[in-house]
Amino acid sequence: MSEPAIESLFTEGRTFPPPQEFAAAAHVNDPSVYDQAEEDWQSWWEGHARQLRWMRDWDTTLEWTPPHAKWFVNGQLNVADNCLDRHIDAGHGGRVAFHWIGEPGDTRTLTYQELCDEVCKFANALKRLGVGKGDRVNIYLPMIPELPIAMLACARIGAIHSVVFAGFSSQALVNRIDDADSKVLITADGSYRKGNVVPLKEAADAAMGATDRVETCVVVQRTGNDVPWTQGRDHWYHEVTADCDAHAEPEPMDAEDVLYILYTSGTTGKPKGIVHTTGGYLTQVAATTKLVFDLKPESDVYWCAADIGWVTGHSYIVYGPLANGATSLLYEGAPDHPGKDRFWEIVETYKATILYTAPTAIRAFMKWGAELPAGHDLSSLRLLGSVGEPINPEAWMWYHQHIGGGRCPIVDTWWQTETGAIMITPLPGLTKAKPGSAMRAFPGIKAVVVDEQGKPVPPGGGGYLTLQRPWPAMLRTLWGDDPRYRQTYWSRYGEDVYFAGDGAKLDEDGHIWLLGRVDDVMNVSGHRISTTEVESALVDHPKVAEAAVTGRVDELTGQAIVAFVTLRGDEETSDALAAELREHVAQRIGKLARPANVLFTPDLPKTRSGKIMRRLLKDIAEGRELGDVTTLANADIVSQLAESSKGADE
Ligand code: WTA
Repeated sequence: MSEPAIESLFTEGRTFPPPQEFAAAAHVNDPSVYDQAEEDWQSWWEGHARQLRWMRDWDTTLEWTPPHAKWFVNGQLNVADNCLDRHIDAGHGGRVAFHWIGEPGDTRTLTYQELCDEVCKFANALKRLGVGKGDRVNIYLPMIPELPIAMLACARIGAIHSVVFAGFSSQALVNRIDDADSKVLITADGSYRKGNVVPLKEAADAAMGATDRVETCVVVQRTGNDVPWTQGRDHWYHEVTADCDAHAEPEPMDAEDVLYILYTSGTTGKPKGIVHTTGGYLTQVAATTKLVFDLKPESDVYWCAADIGWVTGHSYIVYGPLANGATSLLYEGAPDHPGKDRFWEIVETYKATILYTAPTAIRAFMKWGAELPAGHDLSSLRLLGSVGEPINPEAWMWYHQHIGGGRCPIVDTWWQTETGAIMITPLPGLTKAKPGSAMRAFPGIKAVVVDEQGKPVPPGGGGYLTLQRPWPAMLRTLWGDDPRYRQTYWSRYGEDVYFAGDGAKLDEDGHIWLLGRVDDVMNVSGHRISTTEVESALVDHPKVAEAAVTGRVDELTGQAIVAFVTLRGDEETSDALAAELREHVAQRIGKLARPANVLFTPDLPKTRSGKIMRRLLKDIAEGRELGDVTTLANADIVSQLAESSKGADE
């Protein structure tokens, strides 16, 4: 993609107020951390690794054979032991690990001791069901305590978890079960969504019917609805754990043993199984949770309002906060149910001190009005975070003023499923904050914005974001597909330069501004969806001949999905069919992938070599002036499309 495209990728159609600087409130961060880390970045990470409890010391901090890294080689530890037992042994068993808030208003509090007991019981149940070290376990659960419990139980016995977001369809679940070859699935009878019960077990059954891999299914009873049942395969969670011992020895794991697989969208239709390992991952999620949120485990009430089904939840609801012995909130429901002030009611009730959420949520809060947060006492908050997509300065300012009361520093954190942990962010008390900028690399990380040739751009320049040094929480490979790992991340500028797939620019002070994806990956409400994935879902509808999908700027969700569809033979276009196609995609992938618009077209604009002109479709979708299209094989289709997209409804 050429330079101007990167610059316009996220800035097009938006107004940016002149950058303002907000000195963050001074906290305990040591101003020398950046220097310390630069002096010897491997020792810096080693220092953080030493905060954890190791069963065997490592021999070598880093073995880097680009593009493969091994951290803390031959060290042994257990993640669950570090997240639970270590704190109990230090006398903090009575501290609350999670205050859980159910959607219907039910609540549950788990201390570190209670959480550890539950984890051990389920670990023992899993062992009895035949799950062992290295086995893959798929987890398809809503935001209930059993979700982190199941993850930690896997970690305790050395099984590899693969969590699938409960909002994903059964088809998405099948693909992930097959790719990881999981024999065990953990799910629930149903999940609550704005007062309704979503029949999760039925979706799980549809998935298990489409693949014969799953031999054991454990079902948590959450909603109490009737569920289909297969004798021999299905087991109730409460029954398999009923007589289990609340003690289970944590399995000594190699630092490089796989902790989990998490699938994310790439530029092709097939999701990538991102592989995270044990020692390095835990080291970096623990260090970043501590420094980025300036966390004080004895007094903070920390709330990361993501879903554990995404990496944000893995790293900053489960592993990072628990590794620090923090007290967290875990909320099951939607931000607008039963009222649009649900978040503020929760902050007030639990006196949350840290809130970490996504720009898309912040923009929804803005839309719902500042009166809602103003109706609650939010004075407990002292730090705010943002993640998932570039935050527009208007939303930043609103968040700062109406949620943070003008006093809370905001950390805008850039990272990816692949990076495992936060990579670019201000540090409270140390780094200035500019609304809309993620500012600078976390200590020890080397982030470089480069041009097409891989040359670093000077301040004021724009280009591609790269990471030019291995980091502990980095992905190790793609599950079962190392060639794709090399190809996707380490081929563009050489085997030791990680290509993030994001456009970025440096301002005159050298601070980093992320501009959005430069590949065919869309970012809808902070969730990555590939254009190809949605296209594949569309063309598998019997009436569709061809489809091209692009993202357009959307005020609320960052990007919205627009689908250009050509029908087969003499199929008739209609609003009903457009609605049917949108639903079809929702069923194939999940509601989050449902196109906002479906535009029918007799043909798609293509180059003479037959390549679909996606950039042009994006321009059409965003209502931009179109450049010269006369070189296209079918130029007249473009004006027709541009005309019809003007009347498109949401
Ligand atoms: C985008 C989410 C700008 C980016 C943790 C990245 C961001 C993708 C930010 C990863 C941010 C995430 N500013 N863009 N603070 N945080 N992104 O894998 O495009 O779901 O490549 O991980 O989200 O999304 P993922």
